[in-house]
Order: sequence, then structure tokens, then C-alpha cells
Amino acid sequence: MTDHVVCRLDEIPAGASKRVSINGRAIAIFNVDGTLSAIGDRCPHEGASLCLGRVTGVVRADGPGNYRLEREGELVRCPWHGWEFDLKTGKSYCDPTRLKVRTFDVQVKPGETLAEGPYTIDVFDVAVRDEYVVVSL
Ligand code: FES
Repeated sequence: MTDHVVCRLDEIPAGASKRVSINGRAIAIFNVDGTLSAIGDRCPHEGASLCLGRVTGVVRADGPGNYRLEREGELVRCPWHGWEFDLKTGKSYCDPTRLKVRTFDVQVKPGETLAEGPYTIDVFDVAVRDEYVVVSL
């Protein structure tokens, strides 16, 4: 598994999403209250960008007029026809055994752990020999 740095964290503030491309694969990253999730950015129904979908939860009802929102922030609703997918598992809410989108590991890492350092410059030996300047590589 190879890590890919895709953006700065402040490009995806809480409540936002961002579409990125890694080796030609579109991936939707969501920031739900500081928790990041990454899923394939193509709805298996007709190909809509899930990155443009609304993050939501599940409405449950015990009876007429008695409903509540559960699992808030755990699902994304496709912007075209409303299919919903779990942001952690990628499974479809209505048909979890047959329909899913791929999920990806996503982490936040400090910049200093991503770059090798300390940086050095190339240093070459230089000598003067009988009026000629010679650089050794
Ligand atoms: S394209 Fe996503 S539900 Fe139709």
C-alpha cells in the first residue's frame, strides 16, 4: 500500500468534501466533524459523483409522527437518485449485500513526517591543477 498526499487538511474543513484523483481513480473524501472518510467517487447506479452528495443519517420511526434521525453523518446520499452509502463500509443502505462503493484508508499526518530531511545539497570536491579547474562528480 502506497501513501499519496492529496491535499492540505484545511482544504476539507468539517462538513465539507473533496474529490481527488489518484492514478486516475476518483476518490471522494468527507470530513464529518473532524473524522475523515474516503470512498470511490462513482455511484454504482448511474455513476454520479458521490462527493457532491449530502451527508446524512437514517430516519427511524416508532409510529406515525414519532420519528428520529439516527447515525447522523454516517451516510452519503447520491445527488442524482438518492441511493445512500455508509461512509465507513461503503455498503449501500438499501442493499448492503449486493451494492457498495470501495472505501480507502485516509489519515492526517503532520507535514514533517511526510518529507525526508534534513535536506542536503550536493557537495563536490574542487581542485586547481595547473591552471585548470576540475570538478569531481
Ligand atoms: S446515480 Fe447514484 S443513485 Fe442514481
